[in-house]
Amino acid sequence: DQRQRVFSGIQPSGNLHIGNYVGAIKNWVAIQERYENYFCIVDLHALTVPQDPKELRRKIREVAAIYLASGLDPERCVIFRQSQVSAHAELTWLLNCVARFGELSRMTQFKDKARKEGTESASVGLFDYPVLMAADILLYNAHLVPVGDDQRQHLELTRTLARRFNNLYGETFVVPEAMILKTGARVMALDAPDEKMSKSSPRPASYVAILDDPDTVRRKIRRAVTDSGTEIVAREDKPAITNLLDIYAAISGKTVPELEEQYRGKGYGEFKKDLAEVVVEALTPIRERALELLESPRELEDLLEAGAERARKAAAPALHAARAKMGL
Ligand code: ADP
Ligand code: NA
Repeated sequence: DQRQRVFSGIQPSGNLHIGNYVGAIKNWVAIQERYENYFCIVDLHALTVPQDPKELRRKIREVAAIYLASGLDPERCVIFRQSQVSAHAELTWLLNCVARFGELSRMTQFKDKARKEGTESASVGLFDYPVLMAADILLYNAHLVPVGDDQRQHLELTRTLARRFNNLYGETFVVPEAMILKTGARVMALDAPDEKMSKSSPRPASYVAILDDPDTVRRKIRRAVTDSGTEIVAREDKPAITNLLDIYAAISGKTVPELEEQYRGKGYGEFKKDLAEVVVEALTPIRERALELLESPRELEDLLEAGAERARKAAAPALHAARAKMGL
């Protein structure tokens, strides 16, 4: 395969939402032909915060079902679970011995998460999360990594670790580049437009889940906060309407200026009603297909195992090279 390689993944925790859809999965579906893609369910990453084992097992299948229902095709990309490819854990250890305590201490996502819980009780896994992410990417010699804003600093660390390893031990890893995504790069919470929409949020009203039923979608969008004034324009002093316009644009394929024109002189109520229908229309086939797939857990498991087999083959050369170069 002469195509460039792409690696990306989502954690099987919380509820996948329209931010994950327009910021990640929808873009992945669009690049299936152009690149050699590895789309992972990063279950080892999910363990960095406490998980209920039964619930985690269920979530892993749910993410697989959403990937497939959204149009990722196992004939055209490799869909697999991180924990079924032990090379991820093994390369993490090798890279742990190249990464530095100081640089990991500066990762803002760790600092944010640890500030909430207190660093004393944060798991070492949470601290080490960016090194596991580096291993995910470097194992496949991925050239490109589609990342949202939130993962930029982690990708920068991945590049640093690849370069440092190559300098210390000789050319081993491809230094990956960020794949810049035009739309849906950052969807904000519906009830707090200064916060990222997050699947680990304890407030279900803050996100539209991909598996929310149509009435729930309509209710959440109707209740989404709006700004003062009545104009439907994307502007810095109108973060809530700007966010809703961004979502509308990402899902409908229209541009924000087109939407501003379409809703000139109209009210928030009408705009939200239309947005809800656009979202319902996009999510309904995905939700229905995903629920259908979830009725055959065995088939999902088989599919993931077949993906893992391909991933293991693809990951082996980089792991072996890294071990050998380090003297193992
Ligand atoms: P979350 O942050 O909700 O836990 P993940 O960290 O598992 O989700 O992110 C999975 C993918 O979805 C990443 O590519 C990430 O950039 C993207 N993503 C997550 N939240 C958003 C958002 N609010 N807007 C756009 N993309 C997002
Ligand atoms: Na995240």
